[in-house]
Amino acid sequence: MLKEGAIAGLRQAVTNCRRCDLWKTRNNSVLGEGNLDAKILFVGEAPGFNEDKQGKPFVGKAGMVFDKLLDFANLKREEIYITNVLKCRPPQNRNPFPGEVKACSLYLNSQIEAIKPDKICALGNFATSFILKKFGLQNKVAGISRIHGKTFTVSTLADPIKIIPLYHPAVATYDPAMLEPLKKDFSLLKET
Ligand code: URA
Ligand code: SF4
Repeated sequence: MLKEGAIAGLRQAVTNCRRCDLWKTRNNSVLGEGNLDAKILFVGEAPGFNEDKQGKPFVGKAGMVFDKLLDFANLKREEIYITNVLKCRPPQNRNPFPGEVKACSLYLNSQIEAIKPDKICALGNFATSFILKKFGLQNKVAGISRIHGKTFTVSTLADPIKIIPLYHPAVATYDPAMLEPLKKDFSLLKET
């Protein structure tokens, strides 16, 4: 119940948030959604066109690929939680600016604190570098093609967390051949 309250508070906060300039161009902020008792938290980069329209994460083309990959890993959306580093869409889906990430980070940090996942799957370069740095692993940051599928275990005040960088599902929308390495990445989630 405490979790529900914390997440409801965050939803309210991002709806009204003006901590960076992205509020000016958003239609909807996208906090994230899923099971608050999820063992696995997926973190993407930022909402895209469809996410901004609907206020929900991964509902566009990348979301369709994500759903296929979850199926492949025998996971359901109802048992995971999914969010992004940024809660508002950068115009034209440009890369997030460092100031935007800094301004927005309190929301993802609070989500991680409330949900307390066992595993954090960082989707793509951007989320991977954010999550590795957050947990003091800045020395492990490298291009996603070098570290996807690896597991980094970090100890926290609570239980240890496994950080697993994965390719971003959007890559398969540009290059269908990437579906194979993505499936391989997601199949790792079946094992543990
Ligand atoms: N790409 C992301 O990183 N996040 C979304 O929510 C959608 C596309
Ligand atoms: Fe606030 Fe984050 Fe949206 Fe910027 S991106 S306005 S910090 S919720």
